[in-house]
Amino acid sequence: MEVILRPDGESVAATAFELVLSALKAKPNLVLGLATGNTPLALYRRLREARLDLRKVRFFNLDELVGLGPRDPRSFQHFLRANLLDGLRVTPGNVRLLRGDADDLEQAAASYEAAIRKAGGIDLQILGIGRNGHIGFNEPGSSLGSRTRPKTLEATTLADYARGFPAGKAVPRFSITMGIGTILEARRLLLLATGGAKAEPIRRVVEGPVTSEVPGSALQFHPLAHVILDEAAGARLSRRDYWKWVYANKWRVGQ
Ligand code: GLP
Repeated sequence: MEVILRPDGESVAATAFELVLSALKAKPNLVLGLATGNTPLALYRRLREARLDLRKVRFFNLDELVGLGPRDPRSFQHFLRANLLDGLRVTPGNVRLLRGDADDLEQAAASYEAAIRKAGGIDLQILGIGRNGHIGFNEPGSSLGSRTRPKTLEATTLADYARGFPAGKAVPRFSITMGIGTILEARRLLLLATGGAKAEPIRRVVEGPVTSEVPGSALQFHPLAHVILDEAAGARLSRRDYWKWVYANKWRVGQ
């Protein structure tokens, strides 16, 4: 695991952008896994502004809320299109996003796994972290070997989403998400976290024991996982000085 501590959210995005750019240069038909959430927004803005030719890039995403179709403004698919994909030069046939309105979720999950395999596997997976330590929608207790599947959401996650739903309108209680096993098969992982609310989950992911109670801690098994944090998200790490020293003495990110 490589932990990179940056002063603020914009520098987190700049470092992540540099890493994504170097991956794209090395492999123009990169298979890129996207994450939803506030954290990657500054990275996505940089990707849009760079006006790159991404027509060869294949895109997948981590998760979706069950019951929401792609046109629902609260769906993750809509979020990713509005905040990233619609502003990029991409080939529509290369974009494969999970659908929350699939009739048969188990079948949708199996065909998603097959599509990832057919693309040759994910080269670079962007990740955020939930307050409860989840990655994707793999809530605490998820098998560390889990695959893409429907998953019941936890109370803290429901509370986070309730804000986006009008009063009286039910928040989806289920998701469809890549599994932890699916995520760990990506060749490279890029976990971004900003803000003090992420300090404790990040401490448990980076320094805690590997446990399904903190799904993100499974990243400790991955041979190439970058964890890019701002000062606030890294505030509870006991070896902050070590990570800073390592990064300061590194000649290029991700090499
Ligand atoms: C959500 C999503 C994750 C996301 C995480 C963090 O529940 N399932 O994919 O990475 O929580 O979201 P945010 O970046 O908004 O804090």
